[in-house]
Amino acid sequence: MAAEKRYPVPPETAENALLSREAYYRMYRRSLEEPEAFWAEQAEEFLTWFRKWDRVSNNDLSKGQIRWFEGGKLNVSYNCLDRHLDTHGERNAIIWEGDSPGVTRHITYRELHADVCRLANVLKQRGVSKGDRVSIYMPMIPEAVVAMLACTRIGAVHSIVFGGFSPHALRDRIEDADCRTVITADQGLRSGKPVPLKENVDKAIDGLDSVHSVITVRHTGNPVPWNNDRDIEYAESLAEASTDCEPEEMDAEDPLFILYTSGSTGKPKGVLHTTGGYLLQASMTFKYVFDYKDGEIYWCTADVGWITGHSYIVYGPLSNAATSLMFEGVPTYPDAGRLWQIVDDHQVNIFYTAPTAIRSLMGLGEEPVKKHSRQSLRVLGTVGEPINPEAWEWYYRVVGDERCRIVDTWWQTETGAIMISALPGAIDLKPGSATLPFFGVEPQLVDNEGNVLEGATDGNLCLTRAWPGMMRTIYGDHERFMNTYLTTYPGKYFTGDGARRDEEGYYWITGRVDDVLNVSGHRMGTAEIESALVLHDAVAEAAVVGYPHDLKGQGIYCYVTLIQGVEPNDELEKELAGMVRSEIGPIAKPDVIQWAPGLPKTRSGKIMRRILRKVATNELDSLGDTSTLADPGVVDDLISNRANQ
Ligand code: PRX
Repeated sequence: MAAEKRYPVPPETAENALLSREAYYRMYRRSLEEPEAFWAEQAEEFLTWFRKWDRVSNNDLSKGQIRWFEGGKLNVSYNCLDRHLDTHGERNAIIWEGDSPGVTRHITYRELHADVCRLANVLKQRGVSKGDRVSIYMPMIPEAVVAMLACTRIGAVHSIVFGGFSPHALRDRIEDADCRTVITADQGLRSGKPVPLKENVDKAIDGLDSVHSVITVRHTGNPVPWNNDRDIEYAESLAEASTDCEPEEMDAEDPLFILYTSGSTGKPKGVLHTTGGYLLQASMTFKYVFDYKDGEIYWCTADVGWITGHSYIVYGPLSNAATSLMFEGVPTYPDAGRLWQIVDDHQVNIFYTAPTAIRSLMGLGEEPVKKHSRQSLRVLGTVGEPINPEAWEWYYRVVGDERCRIVDTWWQTETGAIMISALPGAIDLKPGSATLPFFGVEPQLVDNEGNVLEGATDGNLCLTRAWPGMMRTIYGDHERFMNTYLTTYPGKYFTGDGARRDEEGYYWITGRVDDVLNVSGHRMGTAEIESALVLHDAVAEAAVVGYPHDLKGQGIYCYVTLIQGVEPNDELEKELAGMVRSEIGPIAKPDVIQWAPGLPKTRSGKIMRRILRKVATNELDSLGDTSTLADPGVVDDLISNRANQ
């Protein structure tokens, strides 16, 4: 292998950073050797507690018991708002940049606090109380943040559903968590085109009488269907509500939010996070990973519908009294320089995005980037999927002018916060590597039998000890939580990812080792897509695998077996794509559909996905042993009818 490139920490960066190399190693060691003392100090430093905890941690991974700061009392909205009012009340909490250039809003901490209290009071009036679940289906507008914080103020548990999910997917999530209140907007906007959010909510809850309130923000102002018994106008109701609302005293282990994510089997899982540990870890990672300095402008391009938006648009930045920029639009509208225009307009210092965005902008050349100054930028982050070294170098050289530090942050919905990442002033960079573990995180690589692998090696990535921001369970299904994460390698949390560790202990995430796809940074299960495909009357069977895709990271390759007598045609292909769209949403659109008269199965009827993956990626020389197939001839047909990607 060619010598890996390395970008050492420049001396002036090391000098000005919050944490030096020595500080990182000292704190990391302490976090493992004296975890109780370490986490107690961090919890004191980062959060304001109404009552101190009785016990720092009480964990037993083999039982799926994870408890942090038991007996401690706090409130998340208090930590994100009230405690900043004396010192930073007039600072912008949110700078909002709309889909169209020039449409901006600035919201100070004081203003955000007032709106959060108002909405919290409206929720109370509608009968929402501590522990109740509230579904949020919103575009990227400040009211989404108000909605989240209003829930936390009264102890309601939010469940955000990404606005790109279909009514069907929304209904599933509303039903699973028994949400009786939905907060939404009339429409979203993307590249000038409206997204029918309220209409989707109406479809999702059609016949679902348990939903008693739909609070709707007028965003585009276009007419939308209205039901006077159930629908409430956001602005009207806030106008009448008081700005006084005492924050509910929550136990550290009270549920904070549910966020659905895809797994290798079955329906999406409701990942449950709790109050104290999650907020601590979001807050602490935000400050150290981005080397955040008081008063800086920070921008994360994720959507609040994903965990990145939860932890790094809302809870991490706001608990640190940072200014969080929120962008409604897309990187290429109205032109390919939009992101850098926004960076210059608002003097953004820290910028956090996904490899898929970097790759797509890379394809459009340097000119749209170079046209803008970007002098304010200091730290550049990436998240969501492995970043190929070529895209990393482009980000570093073209966007960052070789001046900015890159932090490639590895983590998951389940982990709540960043687990493996460089720290700007402490860790030398290697393009393509997420580098070293954060405090309290002890990664381990194991083989398929669970043997622990030492030194430089490849393996399945596990985390050996619980951390404060770890998910606590799958909502309503603790057994599934155990089976998905904790029993594969007993006593450890299994991430579902593969990784390589080099001689220096740097981690290189190689991608999922299970049947989960990562398409443009969006996570989806092959099983979900297959279930959608087989709903079509003409389909007998379907199998879905991922294949490498230049822009999206992974593409969706579907093998479809039609029922006898049905002939494949373009119309049918469109119908199948439509099926996936209506069941899941546009993000799951198949890239390739191959008609397959038969699927490769073992004699016991199990589909051999390994072979399907090899055919999809055109690695026909390494199909492996096909002798155990019930009908080896199937493979020849799959190969000769391989679809061109
Ligand atoms: O495969 C890993 C990939 O994204 C998965 C988690 O997806 P999700 O829960 O949707 O959260 C995404 C944002 C935190 C992981 O199992 N992943 C995430 N970050 C990276 C990554 N793969 C490689 N490098 C990363 N930095």
